[in-house]
Amino acid sequence: MRHSHYETLLAFCEAMEWASDSATVYQRLVDVSFEYLECSVTHLHLLDLTGKSFVHLAAHDEQTAPDYYTRSLTTQVGRMGWMIENRDLIIMEDYEHPHAEDVIPFVAVQAGYRSAVCIPLCSSSGVLGMLSVVYKTPLPWKSDEDRVFLRQIGTVLGTFIQRIQMQKKDLELRVLEERKQLGSEIHDSISQMASALALHADTAQECFEDGDMASLNRELEVLSDQLRQMSKVLRDEMLSLRAPLLDSGDVEELLADILGRFQGLWDIEAQLHVRAEGPLFLSGPTRLQLARIVNESLLNVMRHSRARRVDVYLSSRNGRGFVDIVDDGVGFNVGEVAPERLGIRIMKERAESVGGLLEVVSEGEGTAVRLDIPVTHS
Ligand SMILES: Nc1ncnc2c1ncn2[C@@H]1O[C@H](COP(=O)(O)OP(=O)(O)OP(=O)(O)O)[C@@H](O)[C@H]1O
Ligand SMILES: [Mg+2]
Repeated sequence: MRHSHYETLLAFCEAMEWASDSATVYQRLVDVSFEYLECSVTHLHLLDLTGKSFVHLAAHDEQTAPDYYTRSLTTQVGRMGWMIENRDLIIMEDYEHPHAEDVIPFVAVQAGYRSAVCIPLCSSSGVLGMLSVVYKTPLPWKSDEDRVFLRQIGTVLGTFIQRIQMQKKDLELRVLEERKQLGSEIHDSISQMASALALHADTAQECFEDGDMASLNRELEVLSDQLRQMSKVLRDEMLSLRAPLLDSGDVEELLADILGRFQGLWDIEAQLHVRAEGPLFLSGPTRLQLARIVNESLLNVMRHSRARRVDVYLSSRNGRGFVDIVDDGVGFNVGEVAPERLGIRIMKERAESVGGLLEVVSEGEGTAVRLDIPVTHS
């Protein structure tokens, strides 16, 4: 052999190290296999999700197109199940070999092939696939040492391929997480504003039916104001999705600002009570989550509570901040919220995402949303 075992293993490791995506890795592996194992054809197959059949991923051969005979030769042997169970090589030769199913198929012999070896790609979770190498000569791997070496190649490649698969899963999970967050952002900004608009549109219609043109005019003004504001929020949302959240600020100011806007829009008295010692500051992400939670709570007060007033209490103790949003409305049964209602569920997820906790309490009259979040004092 032109290349030592050591050089060959090293070439495989390098091929895997430098590739950026899985398709490139697979192609490089068969290229290295073709060059270093000095064969005529090489194929890479991975097991599919059922764990019973193989998916062809890459090939390298002396001709330009992968040869049908060699491909069938490497996957249609009857001992695949045996390989998966025993994690061992399948060696095929056109003569001299005792097992009938390991004899090279006649069509392949006719096409000039004499021997082949299928190397199982083994990882800690079992066989993930196989690398097949096909020769037009008798098999060059004869000694026990050669076979140990081929198994080693299988273990190195299997371990690496497992890593690629895990990274892919990790990425998929992160994408899912991000999608969930986007869903929350849309629910809490756009859909909140849209339901507020719908309420105003209903009132406008009532005014029209009652012939109260002055109120109708007022409602239409509010509607057009809010539509403009909604388009601004949409733009801000798009920007905030792109920009990292770096700014921080005083919690009291933030809450006063939100309450001020709420009171300006709805006929419900809203008051902020601060019991913290000195100004409190939040990290950028905590600030955003707090703002969203308070907005959703106030919107729930407006939509569901029939409250006359809402009080927001801000206090702090031992590095934690507490924000309670308490209304004097009709209350509701917290245990009986329909599963398709998302607001409270998202509020809880938001609190937990920044190391906080959120609880909704409603017994008899009124509702309190109690939020506990980490804060800093300066
Ligand atoms: N302050 C409140 N006063 C009275 N009932 C409330 C209050 N907050 C929530 N609820 C009740 O809890 C239910 C669930 O609220 P949640 O915010 O999860 O969903 P939603 O507001 O109905 O819909 P969305 O998914 O658009 O937020 C509401 O439908 C309402 O019945
Ligand atoms: Mg809601």
